Amino acid sequence: MKVPFYGHVRQYQSIKAEVDAKIQEVIMSGQYVQGPMLKKFEEELAAYSGANYAIGVGNGTDALWLTFIALGLGEGDELITNANTFFATAEAIWIAGCTAVLVDCDPKTKCLDPEAVRKAISKRTRAIVPVHLYGQCAPMREIRKIADEYGLLVVEDNAQAIDAHGDNFKIGELSDAVTISFIVQKNLGTYGDGGGILTNHQYINERVRKLRNHGSGRRDAHSAGFNSRLDDLHAGVLSAKLKHIKEWTDRRIEISHKYTAGLKGCGFLDLPIVSPGYRHAFHLYVVETRNPADRDKVLDYLVKNGVDAKTHYSIAIHKQDGFPWGKSARLVSPLTHAEKNAASCISLPMFPELTEEEIQYTIQVLSDWPKNK
Ligand SMILES: Cc1ncc(COP(=O)(O)O)c(C=O)c1O
Repeated sequence: MKVPFYGHVRQYQSIKAEVDAKIQEVIMSGQYVQGPMLKKFEEELAAYSGANYAIGVGNGTDALWLTFIALGLGEGDELITNANTFFATAEAIWIAGCTAVLVDCDPKTKCLDPEAVRKAISKRTRAIVPVHLYGQCAPMREIRKIADEYGLLVVEDNAQAIDAHGDNFKIGELSDAVTISFIVQKNLGTYGDGGGILTNHQYINERVRKLRNHGSGRRDAHSAGFNSRLDDLHAGVLSAKLKHIKEWTDRRIEISHKYTAGLKGCGFLDLPIVSPGYRHAFHLYVVETRNPADRDKVLDYLVKNGVDAKTHYSIAIHKQDGFPWGKSARLVSPLTHAEKNAASCISLPMFPELTEEEIQYTIQVLSDWPKNK
């Protein structure tokens, strides 16, 4: 049996009529860039998120650095974020000319450890950028408290956790802005690249709208800007999909319960932990091998047995050769938990269209791993 990691085509088949109708609507409107479908999707996203403003941009990386620039962040400013995240979080900080300060995660949730954040604060710290990793919200209340104490901005990197929430807090409620990725594999993904920003601040909304469009607010007048817009075709796809996000997240949660119940006898694995009262959106279901030396063996074994497992992310940011070190980054040791996460993580197939057979097969393969006997 083969269990795929992604279910993009299966999902398309389940909503084909709705997606096709939106694509037709955009094509027939004759307006494809900053047209009526983008406006409609931005309104729907703002209403769904409870934010005053939603702005569509080219991708989730641009969403981050455009927000940093709109907030007036730049050279000399330190932004504190996870050492265990997708490369783009740190990359966007560097693109904006700021310094990424990389700190450790909570060993249970893999999200930012507030105590590590507190220890990382310097005279240059201007913002905290918590990542809602794997689909679970960072501890925003604690992060907000630290931000208030030190007068810092907060930008949530919500590439992975649309439709999640914390224990009585919503994404966006305790920060200055939220950034989203709509790349195809995300829980709300288009057929290509896309990104978005949510904010309650009018000035961020105005600045990002200009920045994304060559610094232009009206015809032929430009200040410094870029080209990073969410195309109307993508906005149409996302508008069709947004209506399904709640049912899809519910299904992801249901699959997570099946995995967690089925794998509890696997003594060689640590399973994901959901913080009490949180809605984890399970963008990824990530297990860790208790012994990091087992990770590659278990991964190979899964793949050889037809289960397309992957790693997110097997190289922590501070171990990336490609990162422009020097003034672009500062590490705050120890990074023990981030490094353990990188060395031992395995992501199992997780998408709403997984079948019962595929879920049970994945559980069976892992339960049969020789070292589990
Ligand atoms: C945590 C995180 N931040 C930022 C990004 C960047 O988003 P994009 O690929 O849309 O640029 C991603 C995903 O790709 C991500 O997972």
